Amino acid sequence: MRLLHLDASPRANRSRSREVAQRFLAALPSSTSVTHADLWSMNLPTLEGDMIEGRYDLLHGNPVPEDVSNQWGAISAVAQSFLDHDSFLISTPMWNFGIPYRLKHFVDVVTQPGMTFRNDAAGNVEGLAAGKRALIVAASAMPFGQDAGLDILDFQSKYLEAWLGFIGVTQIDTVNVSPTFGAEDEVAKAMDTASEKAVTLARDW
Ligand SMILES: Cc1cc2nc3c(=O)[nH]c(=O)nc-3n(C[C@H](O)[C@H](O)[C@H](O)COP(=O)(O)O)c2cc1C
Repeated sequence: MRLLHLDASPRANRSRSREVAQRFLAALPSSTSVTHADLWSMNLPTLEGDMIEGRYDLLHGNPVPEDVSNQWGAISAVAQSFLDHDSFLISTPMWNFGIPYRLKHFVDVVTQPGMTFRNDAAGNVEGLAAGKRALIVAASAMPFGQDAGLDILDFQSKYLEAWLGFIGVTQIDTVNVSPTFGAEDEVAKAMDTASEKAVTLARDW
């Protein structure tokens, strides 16, 4: 079992999302091989200019310049190494109701037709990550996951659930770590509740 941990918090110390993720990882069966990917030091290909034009050329089977072809080769390698894992752990802070831009960059890199999904002219989409499992550990200062009125502003876990579903991930669990700001006892309770849920999921991984 190979698990990829996408770590989206740039905080070197005291990351709430990473702390819960580490509790999850510590409770996994010892046979699990874990790859830690720090999204803030990962060298991700840029998506811009000619290579985006080249994407449409490649989709239509047209030739592209060698440098564009090489850039798409680099994208394909990132997508392939992502799919080489059986399961995913995404630990992330909420940033402005969504996810940090480095995590969005990763999603944009790997979510390519023919790499992580297939679609046909009739609009049918098939995710290529079928059979895989994911856990989202979503930290936020505000108490998301408890109040439907507030949850309509959640473009963090809801977005990641939609994305993972789109690429075909079969089983998706989310653990909200919130609130991470406010009264000390409330934050401690949120950390304990989230860690317990994460550990329970790990035992069944
Ligand atoms: C740039 C930035 C934007 C943030 N935006 C939100 C937000 O929209 N909603 C929220 O509840 N918390 C927001 N926060 C707070 C973080 O989500 C919160 O501190 C979280 O616990 C950070 O997770 P980490 O410690 O794993 O990095 C923001 C923090 C930063 C640095």
